[in-house]
Amino acid sequence: LFCGPVTFVKGVTTMQALPPADRVEVCFAGRSNVGKSSLINALTGRKALARASNTPGRTQEINYFALGDTRYLVDLPGYGFAEAPKPVVERWQRLLKSYLAGRQTLRRAFVLIDTRHGAKPVDEEIMTLLDRSAVTFQVVMTKADKVSLAEREAAAAQVRGVLARHPAAYPELVMTSSEKGDGIETLRSIVATLT
Ligand code: GTP
Ligand code: MG
Repeated sequence: LFCGPVTFVKGVTTMQALPPADRVEVCFAGRSNVGKSSLINALTGRKALARASNTPGRTQEINYFALGDTRYLVDLPGYGFAEAPKPVVERWQRLLKSYLAGRQTLRRAFVLIDTRHGAKPVDEEIMTLLDRSAVTFQVVMTKADKVSLAEREAAAAQVRGVLARHPAAYPELVMTSSEKGDGIETLRSIVATLT
């Protein structure tokens, strides 16, 4: 479905260093440890393209991956708790917010939510920022393999309640497991068809 090779482009720490805004881009945002980097690996079928780890705060730069020469997938640092020094965390949180609010070619932001935890106040803060910037966002529930079907449904219902308050929300959410592969094909086709 993704045409052409998938390659790492660069990791950036300032808005000035972003690659030229010359193609469709989608990003993966969410609390630290929610599974952003793992999802990019699952989507691209590459085990260690994006660095994933059990330490919250693993991804500390905005990492650009190219899908052929038509799309960028963007792995973001997490928000919320991170195991890194406070000034460093504050710097990357500012960068994250500037990016989400000010990237012209950002076609959709995927906001990842852990199925075990549901949407938290920090997730709503990001959703509000996206509303204000008129960036369409879509929720991706992660780690579905860790819960029962009933818990998946309860989490999805809680998130739908939150989305009703956010005008920039795309109404459908995608339930995924990067571990087991659930929802990955669905998400791939969403990314591939955005223009
Ligand atoms: P930061 O970069 O620190 O913000 O984290 P992240 O959101 O990129 O999370 P990452 O992909 O590094 O994953 C965090 C942990 O969750 C790792 O130990 C992953 O193996 C685990 N994980 C991610 N996705 C899944 C999943 O679908 N199922 C299960 N069981 N574990 C997962
Ligand atoms: Mg990461």
